[in-house]
Amino acid sequence: MTAAVQPSHVPDALVVEFDMYATLGLATDYHGTWLGLRGGPDVVWTSQNEGHWIATNPAIFDEIYQDPGLFSSSTIILPESHGEAHNLIPTTMDPPEHQPYRMILNRLMAPAVIQTISDSVRQVTIELVDALVPHGECEFTVDFAQQLPLHVFMSLMALPKEDIGKVKYWSDQTTHPDGSMSFEDALKHLYDYLEPYIRERRQNPGDDFVSQLVTAQVNDRRVTDDEARHLSVQLLIAGVDTVVNFLSHAFLRLAREPELRRTIASGEQSIDVAAEKLLASVPLVTIGRRVMRDVDFHGAPLKAGDMIAIPTPLCANYLRHEGEGVAALRSHLTFGSGVHQCPGRHLARMEAEIVLEEWLKRIPEFELQDPDGIRFQGGIVGVVEALPLKWSVV
Ligand code: HEM
Repeated sequence: MTAAVQPSHVPDALVVEFDMYATLGLATDYHGTWLGLRGGPDVVWTSQNEGHWIATNPAIFDEIYQDPGLFSSSTIILPESHGEAHNLIPTTMDPPEHQPYRMILNRLMAPAVIQTISDSVRQVTIELVDALVPHGECEFTVDFAQQLPLHVFMSLMALPKEDIGKVKYWSDQTTHPDGSMSFEDALKHLYDYLEPYIRERRQNPGDDFVSQLVTAQVNDRRVTDDEARHLSVQLLIAGVDTVVNFLSHAFLRLAREPELRRTIASGEQSIDVAAEKLLASVPLVTIGRRVMRDVDFHGAPLKAGDMIAIPTPLCANYLRHEGEGVAALRSHLTFGSGVHQCPGRHLARMEAEIVLEEWLKRIPEFELQDPDGIRFQGGIVGVVEALPLKWSVV
């Protein structure tokens, strides 16, 4: 990645060298390495990835999330030259343009709607776990974590299950390219794939997500085909890789912490509380915002046009509210905050709860095959490269 020359407005005291994709420690201790940035200045600057600021104090994250006039979502991917090419609805929009699209997603993924698919998510989960039980081992990321959210996506969109392989390949090329295809080509494949379904559902709408997207209103007009394609691909890109890696980070913790696992399996800690605490403990999304005007922000002289990263992994276990109630439990920053706060969080929570319940019922005891061999990748979503698990077959 390209390193930038330190601009004259950046004071030496705020410079750190941190490559969110490749800083060495991230590969062996992903959260620990991010947490290492806490405790210093609230905002630091790195020359890596074309040069950008990094917010390091979770207590100031809300000020960034809640002020889109100062911290714009027009570019959210770092480095900024890559981010400028990512033009997705509604992630790279600011209010007021963002709002009508966001209302569509809020309706689509409201808690009551998500509840209606819980039986089918549970069924897929059970089928996947049941198939693994007799083997006594699995590579959790490939054999389970990558399967579940893709099955859920295809079923929400009412797309054929046989296409999971190719959809996964194109989706992977947008989030973790293997060099075989550019981001733009991967998007084009996904758009072309969705095209006939969008046309067909416009004629004969059902109750699936594609039908609801094509028949939704933006202000006082219908969503266009192009917007429906964008929104569909946005759901895939935002809703699969995050869940894959959340499950992998969470199961790594469960494999390393038998006491925690037993507390959940025995019912001592309820599934919903356990899922929420796991979500709070392994945040994994690092995106950015574009600074819109010169401002002194917690000691950092930000200039209009600068990029600032808001890395949720350094907010692990940080809660914005105190207490034991649901509001406090859910006040972590794993799903972000403000107008772009994850609209898929109700679905993600449900997936987490169902997986914990059904997996621990069938495989309550498991361990890592190679405890010293776990490796991570930094980036927009923190990746667990592989998670080989083993258990006794009775
Ligand atoms: C554990 C799983 C998940 C995590 C950690 C996560 C995290 C996040 C975060 C931090 C943001 C805010 C980005 C920003 O501020 O710019 C976000 C936005 C978003 N997420 Fe999630 N997410 C998860 C699951 C999902 C799921 C399951 C879906 C849908 C199927 C989804 C769809 C979206 C969409 C569409 C946005 C953009 C919202 C907007 O720009 O208004 N996410 N997610």
